[in-house]
Amino acid sequence: MQILDGLVVSQATKDELRLKVGQLTAAGKKVPHLAAVLVGSNGASETYVGSKVKTCEEIGYKSTLLRFPEDISEFKLLSAIQDLNNDPDIDGILVQLPLPKHISEAKVIETIDPSKDVDGFHPESAGKLVQGLPTFVSATPHGIMLMLEHYKIDTKGKHAVVIGRSNIVGRPMSILLSANTNPGNCTVTLCHSQTHNLKEICLQADIIVAALGRPEFVKADMVKEGAVVIDVGITRVPDASKKRGYSIKGDVDFANVSPKCSYITPVPGGVGPMTIAALMANTYRACMERN
Ligand code: GUN
Repeated sequence: MQILDGLVVSQATKDELRLKVGQLTAAGKKVPHLAAVLVGSNGASETYVGSKVKTCEEIGYKSTLLRFPEDISEFKLLSAIQDLNNDPDIDGILVQLPLPKHISEAKVIETIDPSKDVDGFHPESAGKLVQGLPTFVSATPHGIMLMLEHYKIDTKGKHAVVIGRSNIVGRPMSILLSANTNPGNCTVTLCHSQTHNLKEICLQADIIVAALGRPEFVKADMVKEGAVVIDVGITRVPDASKKRGYSIKGDVDFANVSPKCSYITPVPGGVGPMTIAALMANTYRACMERN
């Protein structure tokens, strides 16, 4: 069993980007500038956005964090996004999800200029992904593909089972794994909450991507010997033994599943860091294409 180390792979991606940013600066060119929008004070969202802004600093990007109160009107939020669209210095825009219930996430996402949609959530980006056209790919599935590529995992012709059909992870993951690319060329089964015989389907998988957000859902008796297991889960579970009051759990029962795997991602330190690295790669590309 080999660990797919997201810290190591993401560092390699970030080092490469830092080098490229250094070259831009030396040539007197504009460096990438990411705008992050945070509404309210959801603890997990605060942490994610904080990591994204910190990573921008580490690799030499500019970043702008716009914070809005929980009760901001949809109209005001859409206007703020329009302003970011119109600001020529901003290359990438991310609006951290989830948003408060009174705001339509679909409207917010559709307001982002697709040329700045570094999260790849805009319907234009998602549509291009489906058709195999160049576009921004949602950071988590993009990061997973970078990881499969780094470890040279053979995916061609393999059966990949993706659990979870979200627009952010499961759906784009299923498209990427089935594309005629390397990594890719998998036969993909996309499972979700209404799937019958999930265990039997998982047992046929050469590759499992667990992205349903239920702690330790994937058990050892659902995994074939030698499978590659990618764990996207990052649920906060109350834990009095921890100073911060919670621990982070993945969607996979790591202790019992890992001995059966050829490769597996840990939580934390697997997919999470790759997501940020992929967002940074998308932001660099947005800057290159816009300037
Ligand atoms: N919420 C959960 N994952 C993500 C992500 O990748 N991007 C944004 N903007 N919000 C999220």
